[in-house]
This record gives sequence, structure tokens and C-alpha cells, in this order.
Amino acid sequence: MTELRFPEGFVWGAATAAYQIEGAAREDGRGESIWDTFSRTPGRVFQGHTGDVACDHYHRYAEDVALMADLGLRAYRFSVAWPRIRPDGTGPVDPRGLDFYDRLVDALLARGIDPFVTLYHWDLPQALEDRGGWTVRETAEHFADHALAVHQRLGDRVRTWTTLNEPWCSAYLGYGNGVHAPGRRDAGATFRAVHHLLLGHGLAARALRAAGAEAVGITLNLADVRPADGGSAADAAAVRLVDGLQNRIFLGPLTGAGYPDDVLAHLSRIVEPDFLRDGDEKLIAAPLDLLGINYYSPTYVAGRTGGAGNSAYPGTAGSVEFLPPVGPLTDTGWMIEPAGLTRLLERVAADHPGLPLFITENGGAFPDRDIDGTGRVTDTDRIAYLDGHLRAAHDAVSRGVDLRGYLVWSLLDNFEWAEGYRKRFGIVHVDYLTQRRTPKESARWYQEVISRNGL
Ligand code: FCB
Repeated sequence: MTELRFPEGFVWGAATAAYQIEGAAREDGRGESIWDTFSRTPGRVFQGHTGDVACDHYHRYAEDVALMADLGLRAYRFSVAWPRIRPDGTGPVDPRGLDFYDRLVDALLARGIDPFVTLYHWDLPQALEDRGGWTVRETAEHFADHALAVHQRLGDRVRTWTTLNEPWCSAYLGYGNGVHAPGRRDAGATFRAVHHLLLGHGLAARALRAAGAEAVGITLNLADVRPADGGSAADAAAVRLVDGLQNRIFLGPLTGAGYPDDVLAHLSRIVEPDFLRDGDEKLIAAPLDLLGINYYSPTYVAGRTGGAGNSAYPGTAGSVEFLPPVGPLTDTGWMIEPAGLTRLLERVAADHPGLPLFITENGGAFPDRDIDGTGRVTDTDRIAYLDGHLRAAHDAVSRGVDLRGYLVWSLLDNFEWAEGYRKRFGIVHVDYLTQRRTPKESARWYQEVISRNGL
């Protein structure tokens, strides 16, 4: 295969999230999050797994940073656990929580690794959920305070900030179909949550910038939504609806165009939009220095009268059929289609020129059953997945997309939300009994990619 080079200065890194790796759930004053509650609720997470210990990264961060340095990572994207900073979401800051991230940032910088901070990766303080969570406006305001508290401590060393990770998941899976914490099943609450998440982003982004943050953005799990057979008007309508619910509902307000009319009309049939206030769209449209895109898999839909829809997308039952994924699939059953990444990047770049893009997550779960006694994990499936998606990203770059970096999901095997520990996404294997880390072959492969700045 031809050699591919990425642009000079391309940022190579890896991503994780607090609840998925830190453990130390009751240490140093950390408060309860919605994921603590959810994972301890019988039937919510595979075999009752929790993030109580996870990868014990809270105690092993130095070892993990050394591993990153060994792999040659230039950037590391991690999230800050809000309940470590303000245990009840709003009260006084606990300096011990900030101390941890302070040590982590220093350890990264000492190894020449650029910290990319995510301020919210789904672990809302339970105390705030008890007061309405993302369905109420106050949560957005508290989030801006959280952002500022973190910036006050780390802002002298951290350059790149993203506010939210995948607000689609927070709203649609957390409040809509209940597959994620807090596990509510209320279609109307979904849209209240979307709006308050976006508002929280806007308020936080403005506050960060005013405090001197260098680069501020957000990470979205945008979808490449495709019609089943490309033909019918009904299919096109299905694509438009799902695209609206997943992509345009976020991209419109974030980039200053406001909520698209068709999306507003759709959500107004489900909930009285009394939560939208004059001036909100202006607040949400805070200037963006970067957009993080998480991409794993495409979405194929068909327009069908009586279609089953999907409980994660309110109002799709009766007109939309979500097509079952077609192989090859990952261990989470997600369809592998690198071309979807190219299409998505090109589309975002065309619709929002001048907005620098990062792939803030991409990767695959594969069984990785076996360390065969020699400490080797031969994850050829993962290498093929990553190779395909990097080629797809490169295609987009060569067609002019301003893609600045790629952060693999994930550095370590970790707590995969409702799937618990049974799905492994790491390029580094974690033995959860001993906490031993073993770089998989994909880690060595990625090390090569980084050192060559290409494939
Ligand atoms: C994304 C999440 C991340 C991880 C991957 C597999 O939706 O942001 O935490 O679970 O999926």
C-alpha cells in the first residue's frame, strides 16, 4: 500500500474519560455521580460492574503517563470528574480533586504530552440530578462554574479545552431511552436536556475564553446517516429526520445558525418548547476554536410507514426503520465502515468552513481474549480497524479538510458504560485483577504510525 503522510504538526494522541478509568470513587472527598448511582442499580450495567476501581488510574496515573510517553503520544485527552471538584455540584471546591488533575497535567507536560481537557464526560454530580439534572436550566449555570474552577487551577498549563463529550449520549441515552445514567425514559426530557447541555457549553465556553483559555471547543458524536438504498423520498425524509436529531440539532445552535426549523417542528410535537428562552441561541453560539468529532460507525435508515424507529431517537417510530448493521462488525456489534468517517469530515468541513477539526475518539472493541502467557495481545482486528479509519481520515485531509489531530479510543481497556468491563477498546490491555497494563500489538503499531507521522 502507498505510504501516507499526515500534515506536519498533526496531533497524535489517545483519549479516556474519568469514570471509565479513575476508580478511587470514594477518595479525597469525591461526591457521588449519576454513574455511581446507575451502576449500583441492579440491571443497569452488565453484571453489576461499576467504576469503583476501574483501571485505578487515580493511583497509577504516573505509570500510565510513562506508558503514553513510551508510545510517543503527543496529546492525551482526559476528562475531569465534576464530583471530585465540587462533590455536590455547586458547593465549595474540594482542592484534593483538583490536586489530582494538577499532578496529572504536570506529569504529562514533563513528558511533552499536551493535555486536552474535557470538562464533562457524563459523570454529573448526583446532587444535581436530584434537582432535575440536565432537564433544568440551573445545571447549565453550575456547569459554567465547574469549568471556571478547573480553569482557575489548570489554565496556566492547559491550552485545549472541550466542554462536553457527546451531549447526544447524555441527552438521548441518559434521559430518552434510559440506557445510560441517569436512566430516565422521557422523550420530552431528552430535548430539555439537549438545550441545557448546549446552554451549559455556551456559558462555559464564554467563561473559559474570558478567563484566558487558548482554545475552546466541544466534542460531538456526529453520525454519517445514510439512506438504505438511496432511492426513495421516504428514505431521504428518514435520513433528514435522523440527521436532524443527531447532527443538526447540535451543529446549528453551536455555529450560530440556531435550531433548524424542521428539528424545532419535530421536537415541538413531542414537548412544549417552553425551555427555549430568548437569547439562548446567542449564548450557545460562543465562538469555537475547534470541533471534536467522535466516529465509530455509520447509521443506515429507511423511510417506512409503521417503521419501528429507535427508542434513542424520539419520534422516529412509525416512519423510520434503523437497518441492522451489516458485517464486518466490532465486538459491540458496530458496523465497520471507514468511508463514513471521510464523508462525515468532508460534510462538516463543507458546512462549517474555517472550523478546525479533531477526531477526538475512534477505535473498536474486539474480544482480545488472550494474553497467551507471553504478555502479547495480537489484536489484528483493531489494527485493521484503526488503519482503515486513518486512511479514511487521510482521504479527507487530502481533499482539503482541516483535520488537526487524531485521538484513539482508548488508551486503556476500561469501563464501557452499560457494557461494563466486557468490551475492550484499549490499545493497552488491562488485567482487572492485577491492574497490569500490557500494550497490545495495536499500541506498537500506533507507536510506529506516530513516529512516521503516517502509514
Ligand atoms: C463514546 C464515549 C466513550 C466510549 C466510546 C466507546 O460514545 O464517548 O466514553 O465509551 O464511545
